[in-house]
Amino acid sequence: MSEKKQFRAIKGTRDILPPDSALWNWFERKARDTFEAYGFRDVRTPIFEDTDLFARSVGTDTDIVSKEMFSFPDHSLWKLEGQRTQLLLRRPSLQDPLTVHVFRAYVDEFIVGADIALKEGDIPKTPDNERALEIIRTYSDRLVAHFMPTATPLDDPTLQLITQSIQQAAAALILGDIISLRPESTASVCRAYIEHGMHTLPGNVKLYYAGPMFRRERPQKGRYRQFYQMGAEVLGPSDAPGIDAEVIEMLMVLFRRVGLEKITLYLNSIGCKECRPKYVELLRAQLRNVKDQLGADSQRRIETNPLRVLDSKLPQDQPTIETLPRISDHLCEDCRTHFARLKEEFALRNITYEENWRLVRGLDYYTRTTFEVTAAGLGSQNAVCGGGRYDGLVELLGGPPTKGIGFAIGTDRAILSIQESGKSPHLPGLAVFVAWMGPKAYQAAVAIARKLRDCGLIVELPAEEMKFKKSLGLADKLGAKYALINGEDEVASGTYTLKRLANANQQKLAEPELLEYLESERRGA
Ligand code: HAM
Repeated sequence: MSEKKQFRAIKGTRDILPPDSALWNWFERKARDTFEAYGFRDVRTPIFEDTDLFARSVGTDTDIVSKEMFSFPDHSLWKLEGQRTQLLLRRPSLQDPLTVHVFRAYVDEFIVGADIALKEGDIPKTPDNERALEIIRTYSDRLVAHFMPTATPLDDPTLQLITQSIQQAAAALILGDIISLRPESTASVCRAYIEHGMHTLPGNVKLYYAGPMFRRERPQKGRYRQFYQMGAEVLGPSDAPGIDAEVIEMLMVLFRRVGLEKITLYLNSIGCKECRPKYVELLRAQLRNVKDQLGADSQRRIETNPLRVLDSKLPQDQPTIETLPRISDHLCEDCRTHFARLKEEFALRNITYEENWRLVRGLDYYTRTTFEVTAAGLGSQNAVCGGGRYDGLVELLGGPPTKGIGFAIGTDRAILSIQESGKSPHLPGLAVFVAWMGPKAYQAAVAIARKLRDCGLIVELPAEEMKFKKSLGLADKLGAKYALINGEDEVASGTYTLKRLANANQQKLAEPELLEYLESERRGA
């Protein structure tokens, strides 16, 4: 007997099933309504992009780019890739002449495959690729020449040179771009902003998005490899603190609307390209003095990204971190003023927050304002939203000088927190189960089910005839509020029997009264 494979969702991914999916839809609707009320409009960018886009914006030294991206070459030349792997694995030696002949055969095969792919445009026709193929051909010819009857026999140094040259050139041949599943969307939104010349649009461009993101993290509660974000970005000429404040106000309004109560907003300013480098150097110098007191990760980060040391959760690091210089004491005049005005804006809007000088965020593109929101019920992964200003990112990606600010909510975590609070909203369920018996009743049932659905009610109509007892049992199990009974009596009298399942109260109604009654019920629900 052949063993059947049990397919399961890939590690770190999951299915979102009913009834949870209804809560997700409700949350996303609330977010869309809130964002749209603030003038944001939906943007849908692709799920994968050029890997370099994320490397340049999020930063090559960040955890996200250095170890968490799902990246793959954008080509389907698997055969050629396989031939290249074989070629790179060969170690031809004159001690064993057969290995030299095998190597030659692999080189020939690779040249033929690469030539065809290049001609057919399956691999990029760049000068680098053409040069790489030329090198492979030249050295392959040199190898073959040694096997001519009159040629000087091959010696070891020559074989080494030929092998190395061919292998290096083969490795350098670019078969296609490396692309990555998006680990976040800010970079994609900036790319789209530049690509579509959106800087020419009037005022600030306000965009929001919703969708899956991918990071190869260690899965745990609230942390997945495919997770969902709802985010918003403001791009344009102005960096007025009122923009930062309005974006954060919108976020807090949404959290209030969805009943996320036990939340804390943390705020910081991490300076700009004028003042931050000086602070980072000061921090690095100070960290070098206390290096021995820190854990291995922090020690490594002193050189690669000292700001990230402030992110450390390691208990051993905490007393040392408390003694380090704080960015707030080292902001330039402009950044200090920006931060002070932001706080005035918060006062104007009654936004409460906690200042946290250690909030540096794990992505490289931030300047000035950074913020995070934590929520209850999430354990260690309690950040439900992160965001900040990223003036200069558009320019870094080849666009015009542009200011930017935004955030992304971790939808999985927001939903989890709502569920843990026990205050999930009561969402409309099955309103009417149409129980029918007999062909005439079925005809009427089909018609009335459509009318009720047109009124916005959720209606279930069994496709096969059932005894009323069975129908009512199923209606009950499905959680229907009403059963609409339609049998021979009802057909004869042109009425319907409407039974409220919770208390078994029932009434006979003609179609107009029935529609009116259920319609008013729906409005009241
Ligand atoms: P982020 O802090 O990397 O920022 O992610 C934002 C939120 O996404 C986090 O606070 C968290 O709720 C959620 N999140 C991140 N990783 C995971 C995961 N593995 N599983 C579940 N949820 C996760 C950004 O992505 C920036 N693009 C935000 C931004 C927009 N900044 C400016 N504009």
